[in-house]
Amino acid sequence: EKMPLKMEVNGKPHNLSVEPRSTLLDILREQLDLTGTKKGCDHGQCGACTVHVDGRRINSCLTLGVMMNGKKITTIEGLAHGDQLHPMQEAFIKHDGFQCGYCTPGQIMSAVACIREGHAGSEHEIREYMSGNICRCGAYPNIVNAIQEVKN
Ligand code: FES
Repeated sequence: EKMPLKMEVNGKPHNLSVEPRSTLLDILREQLDLTGTKKGCDHGQCGACTVHVDGRRINSCLTLGVMMNGKKITTIEGLAHGDQLHPMQEAFIKHDGFQCGYCTPGQIMSAVACIREGHAGSEHEIREYMSGNICRCGAYPNIVNAIQEVKN
């Protein structure tokens, strides 16, 4: 039986009806068509599904949708302001922080949280905080450079 779910996504209120076992990731992608958030492993191992809940990052594949009642979610689609990219998006472009791009939405959501939560003090700290976001192309040094630029 479906359950009601009220949540705000990228500033827009939604009144949904969801399966109790649906993850936030599946609800975002399948019910709200917000496919910028990626499904890599679906098991909390890769970080491709990273979004912000009330400003804090989470793996949306490990989060049940019904637990999001009353929460504010931000996805990669909610970072830019119209045509104006978020500074972290600009920095990823400038520093080549991606190759195939599959992990990029999750990387960027974690990168924004990394600075906001105060974990961008050193390269070591950044790498530690970002360690849950896997990039199979190995763009790590460029991702760190992008974060350091936005932080400064
Ligand atoms: Fe959620 Fe990999 S899809 S961590």
